[in-house]
Amino acid sequence: MNSLNEQFSQRLSVLEKEYKNYLEEPMDLNITRGIPSVNQLALSEPMLGLLYKPEDFLSQGNIDIRNYGELTGISEAKELFSTILGATSKETLIGGNSSLSLMYLVLTSKLFTSPSSWNAEKSVKFLCPSPGYDRHFSMTEKLGIEMIPIKMDENGPDMDEVERLVSKDAAIKGIWCVPTYSNPTGIIYSDEVVDRLAKMKTRASDFTIMWDNAYAVHHLTNDTRVAKNILAACKKAGYPERPWMFCSTSKITFPGAGVSAIAASEKNIKLLSNELSYQTIGYDKLNQMRHVKFLNNSNQIAKHMEKHASILKPKFDLIQKKLNERFKESNLLTWTNPKGGYFVHLTTLDGCATEIVKSLDKIGVKVTKAGATYPNGNNPKDNSIRLAPTSVELADLEKAMDIIGLCIEMISLKKVILVRN
Ligand SMILES: Cc1ncc(COP(=O)(O)O)c(C=O)c1O
Repeated sequence: MNSLNEQFSQRLSVLEKEYKNYLEEPMDLNITRGIPSVNQLALSEPMLGLLYKPEDFLSQGNIDIRNYGELTGISEAKELFSTILGATSKETLIGGNSSLSLMYLVLTSKLFTSPSSWNAEKSVKFLCPSPGYDRHFSMTEKLGIEMIPIKMDENGPDMDEVERLVSKDAAIKGIWCVPTYSNPTGIIYSDEVVDRLAKMKTRASDFTIMWDNAYAVHHLTNDTRVAKNILAACKKAGYPERPWMFCSTSKITFPGAGVSAIAASEKNIKLLSNELSYQTIGYDKLNQMRHVKFLNNSNQIAKHMEKHASILKPKFDLIQKKLNERFKESNLLTWTNPKGGYFVHLTTLDGCATEIVKSLDKIGVKVTKAGATYPNGNNPKDNSIRLAPTSVELADLEKAMDIIGLCIEMISLKKVILVRN
């Protein structure tokens, strides 16, 4: 055995001993869930008491928001959400408590009820920049749409590959994008990527960009750069009907009790309103008004998000500190250092991620299943782990990071030794 292998083996036996101790006394730590912490939820509690005077129940001074109506949302909410999404009020529709259900609505209407329904075609495919958001992929899978993984780098999806594929295959009907603080890598799409998505020639005349801006205002630092506006870019390129932009207050106020919104061309919004009219007479306008009164305008949203950041930043900083301490000088792991959003993404040595996640699970530390952020849960390189640190307390996160570091180092060293022998 050469001396480097000896060093690795010695280090491995130290790590294995440490791991055995944890096996005897397992933890109970869960960092799988990209949800706000209790302290973050408390920031929005004052919103619940904002409607109490008779005039609070009126939109534009005369529409009773306690009653049916206003299918596309109250105008005050359209104004507020159009500023988050970068559209006009007429290009904005306010949904219920979930942007995911708006995404589902767009896809099902294109598949089943639009005049040129996709379902009538032999096959329907979607580009899935990966790693990406697992629920986008499970929705796509459920709807029977074939998923084509696309590599991601620090600027967004691999646009050479995207352009090559969409130019030759009419069955490719769209692409999923999380343009600002992408889930899970935290990257922001570059201007060039946005322009290329807007301008590219596609064989499918109804190519659709699902632009999920779930983290549009979720900054952790003073650097508040966001992705360029895809609707404006598509209009300029002559494809105004291509993008659908989504957002919600799930991670601004309350997940499950927030408000979602969609922005698209006026023509698309009219089509979607018609579609919606068969499902509901109108969403919860009281909640829309609560959000309008609480969040008010972009300055107030920014101030509110600074409060979230002051709770979240120490957690993200702790992850960087812990990973730097253990892996800065090694080539066993690389990781992201996002300036916003909800996740840190780890790239392990190839073939190690599943084993690392399993070894963590055995000692009571739950992280998102390896591969979950790839179409069909399948990452051929098996090298991707998503950390979701927002909901855990700092002290628990510190314990979890020690154990995560231990398992990554242990499994990776085993792999290195195996390969070298
Ligand atoms: C990229 C992305 N989109 C959408 C959602 C869910 O949004 P909503 O609660 O509005 O359905 C999440 C939640 O984690 C997300 O990460």
